[in-house]
Amino acid sequence: MESTIQPQDVAKKPAVGDADFTKTGNNLLLKFHALMRMSRTYDSKNEALAQFLQESFRMINSFIEREGGFSLKIIRDDLYMNQQRLRYSVEGFNSFKYLLVQWKKRFIGEVIFKETVDERMLRVFIYTLVDLEEGGEGNATRFNETMRQEGISAIQVNPLETFEGEDGLYSVRKGDLKEVAKKIFFETIGTVKEVVTQIRGDQRADVRKLKRLAQKMIHLMMEDESILLGLTTIKNYDEYTYNHSVNVSIYALAIGRRLGFSRETLTELGLTALFHDVGKSKIPIEVLNKPGALDEKEWGLMKQHPMAGVETVLNLKQLGEVNPRMVIGIFDHHLKYNLTGYPTLHHKKEASLFGRILQIIDAYDAMTTPRVYKKVPFTLEQTLAIMQKESGIHFDPILLKVFVSLVGVFPIGSLILLDSGEVGIVYKANSDPKWIHRPQVILLTKDGKEEETTVVDLSETNQDGHFKWSIVKALDPNQYHVDVAKYFL
Ligand SMILES: [Fe+2]
Ligand SMILES: [Fe+2]
Repeated sequence: MESTIQPQDVAKKPAVGDADFTKTGNNLLLKFHALMRMSRTYDSKNEALAQFLQESFRMINSFIEREGGFSLKIIRDDLYMNQQRLRYSVEGFNSFKYLLVQWKKRFIGEVIFKETVDERMLRVFIYTLVDLEEGGEGNATRFNETMRQEGISAIQVNPLETFEGEDGLYSVRKGDLKEVAKKIFFETIGTVKEVVTQIRGDQRADVRKLKRLAQKMIHLMMEDESILLGLTTIKNYDEYTYNHSVNVSIYALAIGRRLGFSRETLTELGLTALFHDVGKSKIPIEVLNKPGALDEKEWGLMKQHPMAGVETVLNLKQLGEVNPRMVIGIFDHHLKYNLTGYPTLHHKKEASLFGRILQIIDAYDAMTTPRVYKKVPFTLEQTLAIMQKESGIHFDPILLKVFVSLVGVFPIGSLILLDSGEVGIVYKANSDPKWIHRPQVILLTKDGKEEETTVVDLSETNQDGHFKWSIVKALDPNQYHVDVAKYFL
């Protein structure tokens, strides 16, 4: 049995704030990712590599000087930096994934930098790591032996730990579809951001790329709808507008499927949803992110965003990808079912189908997401209750019914109390419509804090024919401090 190196010098709690910790962590991941990839293409004397090594070791050292050490450890499918779980950013996702897969393949579970390093040490570290044989059981020992021979005592590694119910190396592959979904989800957020930035800077925006992503989402939906729906619980506060557009498109597609739309119409609907708030790129950021209530002038600006969106879309270079249905959908998304919303109409017309779909999901996602001016959002159940009151006023009553049946009595991502006293998270709708109120649920322990992920099916019965579990009521995740999104990542 190999002995495990203890990170004695590594501080337990970060000296920096949470947001800073995430940012630094993600920057470090990007560096390690780039270094590993470069070392596979360049030889160790390469000029570009040398420069990158210098940038990297400075960044690592400044972290070590501040925190007293640096460690990166794999626990299941998460990375822990200095014993704190690292949340990855949209930009950091690929690096996160890359390191996880590459280290797992080599059975390396933890890398520890006990003290500051120099360029040579970092170079030896990277090349030794990359050269380790995939699937080599004794890799950690071999690695530490090389470091000893090279006279490097600052860097050491520990072997990968496996956990019950996981087969180590391949655990990443098991959830393939989920991984693909995550990748598409984050890529779409990134692309919406790119497109909005291009539009703000009066540059050409790449609509085709978004269209391809919308098509990929549709494909995934056909395979397994609940994966993408689960990802909408992430609610990324910093990237609100982009994250919101992607969430709206996921729900729009799910409704579109229930309405029997063709793939082509679904693509149009998905794209309309991704673009619905593009007009906001014309509104000053101070107004968009204003914590307090908007004054009359600011509100006036805000109300222009559907029309600004229409203009933007009509000015796109790839206009061939746009059709009138999409343009009208964007125009209508705040109009409300009874036309009392904005823009003000001079000639009354009916709100379009795309518009009416967007009205519902747009409101739903906005109400369930924390915002600068409302830090604690409504729970899913509160939101549905509020929306029900607006049926026939703000929302098309029939479409609202379709939407409610989609998210269920207990929507995916709800925190619930079971009659067993256990707390759970609704994970997946029951495939049998008869059991709509008996979804699949992730069980948490009684205090709701344990990181266990046992999934149970509420339609399961005991030998005597009684249901094993039933839902008692919904709980407020904010009150219970449960990070629901984490269970969908
Ligand atoms: Fe909007
Ligand atoms: Fe919106």
